[in-house]
Amino acid sequence: MFSHERIIIRRGPESGLPIIVAVHSTALGQALGGCRLAVYPDWADGLADALRLSAAMTDKCALAGLPNGGGKTVVALSSPPDDAMRQAALHDVGTVIEDLGGIYATGPDVGTGPDDMVTIGSRTGNVFCRPTSAGGSGDSSPGTAVGTVAALRAVCAARFGSPALDGRSFAVLGLGRVGGRVARLLSEAGAKLVVADVDPARRALADEVGATWATPDEALTAAVDVVVPSALGGVLTPASVAALRCSAVAGPANNQLDTPSTADLLHARGILWAPDYVVSAGGVIAATAVELRHETPAQVAARLDGIGDTLGRIFAMAARDGGTPSTAARTLITQRVG
Ligand SMILES: NC(=O)c1ccc[n+]([C@@H]2O[C@H](COP(=O)([O-])OP(=O)(O)OC[C@H]3O[C@@H](n4cnc5c(N)ncnc54)[C@H](O)[C@@H]3O)[C@@H](O)[C@H]2O)c1
Repeated sequence: MFSHERIIIRRGPESGLPIIVAVHSTALGQALGGCRLAVYPDWADGLADALRLSAAMTDKCALAGLPNGGGKTVVALSSPPDDAMRQAALHDVGTVIEDLGGIYATGPDVGTGPDDMVTIGSRTGNVFCRPTSAGGSGDSSPGTAVGTVAALRAVCAARFGSPALDGRSFAVLGLGRVGGRVARLLSEAGAKLVVADVDPARRALADEVGATWATPDEALTAAVDVVVPSALGGVLTPASVAALRCSAVAGPANNQLDTPSTADLLHARGILWAPDYVVSAGGVIAATAVELRHETPAQVAARLDGIGDTLGRIFAMAARDGGTPSTAARTLITQRVG
């Protein structure tokens, strides 16, 4: 079903690159969603990504209780850009967003970071997560990591009857900006860790937090309490779900399911799956709390903790109705967004 409110595909006036902005919904307020700068086989693949990711942002904002909808920007590259082309593309993104008149604001995503938001911000004020030195809330990954740990406590409460992380075992796939922080926080809480990353340089962090280093496949199929996908999406497929040996899967990686029906396969195997758009909401929650509502660190922390409460509600609804957490989450989204 076609559900997007507005889709802009424009040849960037400075870069000549396809600049794609998908505004999925403004039913609850300004649409939010990061700017992805990535190489695609064809610009139409970038459009497909923008459509999918902007709809997921609507779900994320709705379940995070934010007065915002979902959007996404994709700059579809055919090859990695040089510095001048990258700057030109970011200027073009700012121009396109400014032309939308405030219905959508962007932030960092794959291929962009807080410094790039300054470049976009030279063309539009509708941008989040500039560095703190430039008046923004900076890197969103600390908030995402704290929210993920709140989610993991809720998963443990639902699955094992206690939110305690002490003595529980986790396999963290991907030790990047979010996964690395999640591994540290879990280790500090007394959890046992198996970790993996395709980048061998991340092994130093594994040693630092006392984790067992594994290949990504070994980590995914490790006999642990919870697998925590923290790298790329699409990690849950019929084949990988059949090979899982964990009790639950919950992590910040976006779009973990290859198709929505894979949630049913997890349910049939008795594996509790926490919808990624709930788990990974900490970044957008923290950025909007700081930049829009000027909240104190304690207020932001309480909001991030609320991710655990939301998940708890979703798990309780699913258990009551005999459905999956995905179905329960969808019901809550429909109640809020319509
Ligand atoms: N940064 C945020 O605030 C935020 C917010 C919401 C969702 N997310 C999602 O969380 C995930 C991680 O984001 P990030 O900001 O930490 O990214 P990142 O690029 O900093 O880290 C990703 C890490 O995963 C590793 N990796 C890549 N492929 C892998 C594989 N097949 N197996 C194991 N490791 C692999 C990379 O080497 C890297 O260390 C992404 O899916 C992202 O969309 C991030």
